[in-house]
Amino acid sequence: MTTTAPQTTHVPDLSAARQQVDTVLAHFLERKTTTAAPQHLPTETIEALTSFLRAGGKRLRPMLCVTGWHTAAGHQPPPAAVLQVAAALEMFHAFCLIHDDIMDRSLTRRGQPTVHRALADRHTASRPRALAEQFGNAAAILIGDLALTWSDEIIHTAGLTLVQLTTILPLLDAVSTEVMYGQYLDLTATGRPTDDVGQALTVIRYKTAKYTIERPLHIGAALANGSTPLSDTLTAYALPLGEAFQLRDDLLGVFGTPEQTGKSCLDDLREGKHTVLVALALQIATTRHASLLRSLLGRADLTEAQATQIRTILTITGART
Ligand code: IPE
Ligand code: IPE
Ligand code: MG
Ligand code: MG
Repeated sequence: MTTTAPQTTHVPDLSAARQQVDTVLAHFLERKTTTAAPQHLPTETIEALTSFLRAGGKRLRPMLCVTGWHTAAGHQPPPAAVLQVAAALEMFHAFCLIHDDIMDRSLTRRGQPTVHRALADRHTASRPRALAEQFGNAAAILIGDLALTWSDEIIHTAGLTLVQLTTILPLLDAVSTEVMYGQYLDLTATGRPTDDVGQALTVIRYKTAKYTIERPLHIGAALANGSTPLSDTLTAYALPLGEAFQLRDDLLGVFGTPEQTGKSCLDDLREGKHTVLVALALQIATTRHASLLRSLLGRADLTEAQATQIRTILTITGART
């Protein structure tokens, strides 16, 4: 009888990488405070970003960037420059989420008040509520813009080689363009959900699958000089996984517990988000249920009882399953 040696699979230490990424972000923001404070510049912006990053987040994009590095570099641990690029992706994500929460009028994120809401609350004593909300939105747009700019700064101060930089810049351009197209498609479909599953899938490919999984893997692999066939393999892996991730996120957005997800389970329904879940339900539902769904989705004042009605229809149609 012949025996074959057991295959050993090297599992990269992502918990160490996660900590290193968080350290890069914390030090970067500390340096920004050190520069801004003596000049009496508004450090409130840096505090808001710091607490947003500290509040949680799965750090999927930085970890997938590091994973992408390992797909081409093998066991070799990611050097500091690669961890810095991974950190830049999280800073970019902070920009995306802060702006997304304004666009979606969301009140909670990562278990905390969203940035625009926290700023509105903080300034509510000094001005009428409507003006405080206007201030919160405007200030959060700027804080998101700072995160976007600082994400770039983290890249160009990472100490990448010229070859690395010229390889990843087009990928970074691609990912920011893709996520913004995806978010725009999401906005245009929101408020008028239809039974068009294909359109809902296109939205999530751009706003999530490419942004969250595919491009971070591509960027990590490119930093290790990965080949085109490797990049194609990563795409084949990433797009279905990314779509599954958003399908799950959409389920959590309706059926999740806010204590666990850190975000509301009414926002998507009140916004009338055009998700695959809703599109499937509209395809399958009886005429009565479909028209009830259409009349309830997108109501800004949707009650808990009406949300329960929607959840029941999403369940009995089989859309949830
Ligand atoms: C939220 O992303 C936006 C989506 C694309 C679903 P995450 O689910 O990765 O959010 P955090 O970073 O863990 O908070
Ligand atoms: C957010 O999409 C996606 C990005 C920021 C790219 P959603 O609006 O669907 O996600 P959540 O539910 O607010 O996290
Ligand atoms: Mg949102
Ligand atoms: Mg959104």
